[in-house]
Amino acid sequence: MVKLVGKNKILSAVFISGRGSNLKSIYNYSIKKNSKICVELVISSKSDVLGVKFARKYNIKTKIINYKNKVKAEARIIKLLKKNNIQLICLAGFMKVLSKNFVKSFKNKIINIHPSLLPKYKGLNTHERAIKNRDRFSGCTVHYVNQNLDSGKIILKQKVKLYKSDTPEQLAKRILKVENKLYPRAINKVISNF
Ligand code: GRF
Repeated sequence: MVKLVGKNKILSAVFISGRGSNLKSIYNYSIKKNSKICVELVISSKSDVLGVKFARKYNIKTKIINYKNKVKAEARIIKLLKKNNIQLICLAGFMKVLSKNFVKSFKNKIINIHPSLLPKYKGLNTHERAIKNRDRFSGCTVHYVNQNLDSGKIILKQKVKLYKSDTPEQLAKRILKVENKLYPRAINKVISNF
């Protein structure tokens, strides 16, 4: 497959650690005729994951980062981002927390998707917590990344109804479908400020 690189597109990097369904939705959005972004680089903290397979299949430049030493890992990532002139970073299931310095050096250029209605349920196991609390709704949020976990300014969020019979897996599946649509919309909103 030949990668489509449009002129004057915002060069973006997607950071992943796993399945990559949000990477896929961002990529599919990026190749649309009127899209203003290009997925120039994929950074993965894991090698043998579906997201990496997808990126390679579509000839997206993909780098696996060894995170044994976080300082070195981030230094390598920063080098790659600079070398590729990356202007926007989309975290999509990236299971590593970026350091304060990293976040500072890309201020307002890093966004993330989180499977809850933030500020509710920051961190892990969001679906379990929503079910346990018998919430009527859960959902997902795209937000800017700041120095505190899942705490940056909210860009877009969308509710998903919770059913009494829901298992965390069922709820996760329904929310993921919504995530995959929400992320491109949030990117569109973010880049309108670029
Ligand atoms: C998504 O649920 C996202 O909200 C969370 O991690 C999951 C990643 O899924 N941060 P995928 O790898 O994009 O399919």
